[in-house]
Amino acid sequence: MARCFSLAAFGTPLRINDPGCVAKTFPDYFSRFAAVTKAAPVIAIDGPSASGKGTVAARVAAALGYAYLDSGALYRLTALAAREAGVDWADEAAVAAIAARLDVRFAEDGVYLGGVNVDEAIRSEAISAGSSEVAAWPAVRAALLFRQRAFNTAPGLVGDGRDMASVVFPQATLKIFLTATVEARAERRYKQLIEKGFSANLSRLLLDLQQRDARDSGRSVAPLRQETDARLLDTTGLTIDQAVNQVLQWYREASR
Ligand code: DC
Repeated sequence: MARCFSLAAFGTPLRINDPGCVAKTFPDYFSRFAAVTKAAPVIAIDGPSASGKGTVAARVAAALGYAYLDSGALYRLTALAAREAGVDWADEAAVAAIAARLDVRFAEDGVYLGGVNVDEAIRSEAISAGSSEVAAWPAVRAALLFRQRAFNTAPGLVGDGRDMASVVFPQATLKIFLTATVEARAERRYKQLIEKGFSANLSRLLLDLQQRDARDSGRSVAPLRQETDARLLDTTGLTIDQAVNQVLQWYREASR
């Protein structure tokens, strides 16, 4: 299926009908193109844990042929790498040094740390709690900032996290605060774990999410909050398809 993009190069509208066609013959075409044109558009999606923003962001990116940045994975990788190195999550300087030298690769089959697929390992409850702890350190956030911005290449990017709209991509074409009630989020997480064959406790998950929300919203640096220019998308009563379609519709409106 042909995919189309409109870009403005030197003030002249330019349309690329099949951006995927350069994958083999000119793989770094879009990064080179980005270097001579204006910055690629960004859709910034922020929201609390287990709100479904990752699923929605990845689907929106796929629908548009854009890159996808799961910024939470970088904080999770930092927590995992620190634990593997025997570094205490409470040691800001040491954790920031680890964040600055993370050997990360995002691939089709998951995320790699030092050449090892750690997709499952970074989603464990222990690393979820650790990522929230290390994400509160200003030096850790600073160490991960440029790594995140490097994802902003043509034809475009969908980034999800907590500070995509406020700090990392304040110039985003569309900013969305995607949320759902904490009860709905706990239930979704519960179903996911049960479907994967893990044991889970709904009230424990609810408590964990409430604690993580409080930590992510209450920290002094880049706290989780809805930016004044972000649109609110409450997915409590929505299917994933409905949420994706809403984002795409807002993006079409914002790009006009
Ligand atoms: O989105 P997630 O649940 O994978 O994020 C893991 C942790 O990282 C979460 O506790 C909040 C933190 N985080 C952050 O502070 N800033 C981001 N841009 C993304 C995630």
